Amino acid sequence: MRIDILTLFPGMFSGFLDGSLLGAARTAGILDIRLVDIRDFAEGPHRQVDDRPFGGGPGMLLMPGPVVSCIEAVQQAARPAGRVLMLTPGGRRLDQAVVEELAAEQRLVLVCGRYEGFDARVKETVAADEISIGDYVLSGGEVAAMVIVDAVARLVPGVLGDEESARQDSFSGADRLVEGPQYTRPREFRGLHVPEVLLSGDHRRIAAWRQEQAVEATRRRTTVPPTPGLARRSTP
Ligand SMILES: C[S@@+](CC[C@H](N)C(=O)[O-])C[C@H]1O[C@@H](n2cnc3c(N)ncnc32)[C@H](O)[C@@H]1O
Repeated sequence: MRIDILTLFPGMFSGFLDGSLLGAARTAGILDIRLVDIRDFAEGPHRQVDDRPFGGGPGMLLMPGPVVSCIEAVQQAARPAGRVLMLTPGGRRLDQAVVEELAAEQRLVLVCGRYEGFDARVKETVAADEISIGDYVLSGGEVAAMVIVDAVARLVPGVLGDEESARQDSFSGADRLVEGPQYTRPREFRGLHVPEVLLSGDHRRIAAWRQEQAVEATRRRTTVPPTPGLARRSTP
């Protein structure tokens, strides 16, 4: 799979792309991830990429010219042209179903915003989807792009050592359950014991117990109200 990341801050990605699973997958040629500096497509002696919003208001907007030129150049450089995703707080919210959809693409082009975001004509000019990683505002699209790359890469065949692990993760499979409790050694920790069923060696009982626990964990997550402490903190 190929992923092009268009950003004003390519340096932010170095440790992220080189480490652990992603670094190994890139070295093995399973993932082809490229960074492109949007500023390389700016014109004029100052290579300006942002300007004040028409109608007034705080901050600066990314000018459409450099962003669109960058997207078009990247798409023309290789085939398939790829699916263009602009990172925006107001975009389609990322969840595991969206991650699965993106992982099925041969190529993604991720466009990171900065300042107060994109001029609206970028989206009108290139056929782009908008993706949000959640209902909060980051300073730039780079961290959001990292979230997408990480989540998508786990589903690309060959990236994880054991593909079964992604199939068993939370939000995966037809039922989209979250994972129940897991335990490793020691069998007893500060008076807390590993459930007997997990030590039984009876794989059918273990599978049934895990399924029950996952259903319960999912029910609690979706139906149990926040703890009073958390609720208080979120109230102005
Ligand atoms: C400070 S934000 C711009 C916020 C914009 N003025 C608004 O109110 O929607 C700058 C950039 O960060 C990125 N960004 C911020 N929050 C994001 C989120 N939740 N998901 C994806 N990208 C986000 C986008 O690329 C955005 O253009």
